[in-house]
Amino acid sequence: MDKLVSLCKRRGFVFQSSEIYGGLNGAWDYGPLGVELLRNLKEAWWKEMTYRSNIEGIDAAILMHPRTWEASGHVENFTDPMVDCKQCKSRYRLDILFEELSVKKQKEALREMEPGKYEGQQRDEVIADEFRKKTETAPGVILPFLNCPNCGNKGSFTEARKFNLMFKTFVGPVEDSSNVVYLRPETAQGIFVNFLNVQGSSRQKIPFGIAQIGKAFRNEINTKNFLFRTREFEQMEMQFFCKPGTDEEHFEYWREQRMKWYVSLGMPADRLQWHRHEPGKLAHYAKDAYDIEFKFPFGWGEIEGVHNRTDYDLTRHEEFSGKSMKYFDERTKEKFTPYIIETSAGASRSFMAFLVNAYAEEEARTAEGDMELRTLMRFHPSLAPIKSAIFPLVNRDGMPELARKIEADLRPHLRVFYDDSGAVGRRYRRQDEIGTPYCVTVDSQTLQDQTVTVRERDSMVQERVASDKLLSYFSTKINHS
Ligand code: GAP
Repeated sequence: MDKLVSLCKRRGFVFQSSEIYGGLNGAWDYGPLGVELLRNLKEAWWKEMTYRSNIEGIDAAILMHPRTWEASGHVENFTDPMVDCKQCKSRYRLDILFEELSVKKQKEALREMEPGKYEGQQRDEVIADEFRKKTETAPGVILPFLNCPNCGNKGSFTEARKFNLMFKTFVGPVEDSSNVVYLRPETAQGIFVNFLNVQGSSRQKIPFGIAQIGKAFRNEINTKNFLFRTREFEQMEMQFFCKPGTDEEHFEYWREQRMKWYVSLGMPADRLQWHRHEPGKLAHYAKDAYDIEFKFPFGWGEIEGVHNRTDYDLTRHEEFSGKSMKYFDERTKEKFTPYIIETSAGASRSFMAFLVNAYAEEEARTAEGDMELRTLMRFHPSLAPIKSAIFPLVNRDGMPELARKIEADLRPHLRVFYDDSGAVGRRYRRQDEIGTPYCVTVDSQTLQDQTVTVRERDSMVQERVASDKLLSYFSTKINHS
């Protein structure tokens, strides 16, 4: 991870937010290459989800009427249990504090809590299971036996208390409770409250979906792992409205579609898995829920949730707004509250997963025949920030002029990069490191027959292509690989 984070900064993918002031925890800035990758990722999702006859797009405001969040249950339920260390003032999300404890520490705590009971040869799984049960039934009893991960003091934690993750602010100049608004903690609610606006204006019939990409904000107690858990992030959500009774079939359909999407963009199937939420641990709105998890260097982590939200959201908004959220089926003359199947992906978190997935180091042969380590980003060509780099082999004999012409011809259609400095091998390595799938070199043969060398990033195989056919060559490669 450290190598990736440093490459991200050095090559302009991701910078720490307001770094010159020491940074702001949980916020990151996307640099010139990062913003291209993020846009390509969002574009791929947008095309995948909305280039269908039964899905419409929307871009709702971040600030919404505060009643929205009462209706959604966020004011009451969007909380995490939090503890503070009384000695060093570090703050922890209780479930994460428990989760991150090694089995050795769990064993020590259990033994101290109940002397004699955990002596002997208990297997790690037995201890972990026993510890998990205790954290679920009596978290307060365990706390005094744990050390603070920061200062090491034992028994220094406060009692757990609930902390609401929504960021609060005020509309207008007066900062009183009647002017409170929240930065949305999910994009979903902007879709639910617009359900009938979109349905009526687009003349969609159920079943149909509404998709949205946008920022969301959560005042996470512990941010961590680079872009994985941040306070400001982007989501790509689609809410599919269907008739009750058909929800399970749509749920299965969307689960399949969403998993396929990650694989189609180059994630190996064995680096992805489903995690089903146990019935007792479902969110307050869900009938069934699965996470798509990606294997990060620090372990499996959720990148997208697929949830059966039932009619909870529309029923609640109807109750709190006093406006009907029911759908009238002209054909059957039935009136009902649709069920919602949600696919909720993190754009920022998937961005990180695609970065991690692409990062590779391998031995490669130099032009002189020696072996050297090359770092490369194996991005799917449609995600790669720069699609092609263009090099003149040498800076004379008319090669720069020809290379500049190729650059000018391609630039209106593709993000390209011109580089004429250093040996060609070095130029290849610089492009490998940022994931550019194709490098074009203008050489002496180009002067004879107008063909160029195109070198593919992963295989390093080179082929000759007519310079006036490059655009169609790239379009085919980028869209169909
Ligand atoms: N509307 C449902 C919803 O928001 P969620 O599981 O809380 O569900 C969906 O979030 C996705 O949003 C997650 O799978 C993750 O990719 C992303 N996400 C959630 N919290 C995040 C955070 N603090 N930082 C980065 N991404 C986050």
